[in-house]
Amino acid sequence: MGESARQPQEPQNQEELYRYLLDRVTNMETRNLELREQLRQIESDKRYIETQKIRYEREVRKLKSEIEQLRSPPLVIGTITDIVDSNRVIIRSSAGPRFLVRSSLCIDPEKLKPGVRVTLNQQSLAVVDILPESFDSQVYGMEVVETPEESYADIGGLGAQITEIKEAVELPMKKPELFEKIGIDPPKGVLLHGPPGTGKTLLARAVAHETNAYFLRVVGSELVQKYIGEGARLVRELFELAKKNSPTIIFIDEIDAVGASRTEATTSGDREVQRTLMQLLAGMDGFERRGDVKIIGATNRIDILDPALLRPGRFDRIIEIPLPDLSGRLGILKVHSKGMNIDADVNLSEIAGLTEGKNGADLRAICMEAGMFAIRKEHDTVTRNDFLNAIEKISLDFDRNKYPGSFGAMFA
Ligand SMILES: Nc1ncnc2c1ncn2[C@@H]1O[C@H](COP(=O)(O)OP(=O)(O)OP(=O)(O)O)[C@@H](O)[C@H]1O
Ligand SMILES: [Mg+2]
Repeated sequence: MGESARQPQEPQNQEELYRYLLDRVTNMETRNLELREQLRQIESDKRYIETQKIRYEREVRKLKSEIEQLRSPPLVIGTITDIVDSNRVIIRSSAGPRFLVRSSLCIDPEKLKPGVRVTLNQQSLAVVDILPESFDSQVYGMEVVETPEESYADIGGLGAQITEIKEAVELPMKKPELFEKIGIDPPKGVLLHGPPGTGKTLLARAVAHETNAYFLRVVGSELVQKYIGEGARLVRELFELAKKNSPTIIFIDEIDAVGASRTEATTSGDREVQRTLMQLLAGMDGFERRGDVKIIGATNRIDILDPALLRPGRFDRIIEIPLPDLSGRLGILKVHSKGMNIDADVNLSEIAGLTEGKNGADLRAICMEAGMFAIRKEHDTVTRNDFLNAIEKISLDFDRNKYPGSFGAMFA
């Protein structure tokens, strides 16, 4: 390339000078436009970065406050038991002991009432905040959300017992006017008792299936707590939740765990169980309105239950669920063999006759074992022989009469 191409040409005359200048001007104008465009770009970048910065700052603040929260010591939970004056209250901490404490100035003294749950500073135990009313998560755990699948049709025998429980539990909920017309109060509670494995829990599940009431299920032993007063509080909250969502059915399975007769208690544990029972008794007395909250209890040790539980007004209806008789056993066998592929030579009445003294759970196990025998022999159907073998196996595996007495209280 020549020298002249690299260097701008020297203007030779007027016209060339004019053209040269024009050229420069256009060049500069385009350059100007370019720069402006760049400026615009940079400004928008700047704006973007500024908003980004604000976002990050916000995030930093959030994280800082979170760190602050993580650093702050945990608060103790307590319940107000008494108000002394405008800024002194007596509280019971969740661990048990009671304290006289001050309440923080930012708390409205109007809101401090006995029974309110509050948070306490760890060192001074001063009331720092009031907690919203809530139930123990354990109480929420008792709620039966999914309706059980068993219906009355899945219960063999027990026809009379089903009628009784229907009358006592379903009827007052569905047709309260019948009771008003006659002028009687419907039964408040129903106690199912009888030997283990006869279908008490099953019956309660069927009731839950058939009514669309709010259903709370609790096992007696769940109500027994470690600290003094906690079991009673649980019972109180259970009844409160029941009342709030009425119509409700509370099912207390294995009620003997809390309902055992009150004797001269020796250990503090016994006394705590008794306090829980007393709260239960008071709770059962607390419902006066018809057909609102029903209690179904189940136990296989009615002999050790406290007489106060059994008096009319609490469990007014005591329904015995006995060992199934011949027709009961046939009914149960029919229920459990419904889905099975059974050979034509099987006569369920005969099987029922051979299983004298067996309970519902045994009969269910017999059906299952008969099926297992058929599977072992790789047959498509369950034969009479399979059933006979199953009866023998169930009787041999575990002879109930070898261990008389205290059986069942432990099995739910
Ligand atoms: N009458 C019945 N009809 C159909 N199945 C029954 C019957 N009784 C018992 N069963 C079967 O036995 C199983 C156990 O019964 P369930 O749990 O109701 O006994 P339970 O009376 O509550 O005993 P426990 O007193 O030991 O708690 C049930 O799941 C069911 O399969
Ligand atoms: Mg049971």
